Amino acid sequence: MTRIVPAFVLAASLALSAAQISFAQTAPAEIVKERQHAMEQNWTEYYRDIAQTLRSGSPDLTLVATKAAGAVDHLKKLAQLFPPGTGRDVVPTTRAKPEVWTQRADFEAAMTALADATKTLGDDAKKGDLEKVKADWTNTAKACGACHGGPKRAGGKFRFEEQ
Ligand code: HEC
Repeated sequence: MTRIVPAFVLAASLALSAAQISFAQTAPAEIVKERQHAMEQNWTEYYRDIAQTLRSGSPDLTLVATKAAGAVDHLKKLAQLFPPGTGRDVVPTTRAKPEVWTQRADFEAAMTALADATKTLGDDAKKGDLEKVKADWTNTAKACGACHGGPKRAGGKFRFEEQ
């Protein structure tokens, strides 16, 4: 049976070796800062706008499609910001749990699941199917929850609770 691998995952893994080479010169604390910023941007640049318009009386599905596409792109970069050697033992300010590295396959699957859910959301928004978009949005939010809770301080499978 042929396994269908999303194109961006392939692209991400091809880019990984080059990224790891450049990370070798980047201080782990810088990488942590960059990924926390990138995670924050998930919400402030993409998903918050989707949440807001879907809650409004007249959801803008064009905006949902644009933001979803942007988020999928952003996730490709974000996925590369978790190289080994950037856990709490090295950088105390990170909230990434050791499971990010000890359960790598699960972690990567959770990242892919978020990208896939977001892609479906964007595709259904393009088709103008509001009912599907609403269901897709629930799935997307659940995909964030696979790693950590919604509130900024919340912990989860892959994130320490904020102290
Ligand atoms: C594959 C796992 C994974 C998924 C999926 C995921 N996150 Fe995260 N997220 C993390 C980890 C790990 C951290 C902690 C990073 C660190 O501190 O180094 C984090 C941190 C954050 C932070 C805090 C950033 C900071 O400044 O400390 C926010 C906000 C956030 N995520 C939002 C989201 C949103 C919104 C989604 C869904 C659209 C999402 N995340 C999906 C793993 C994930």
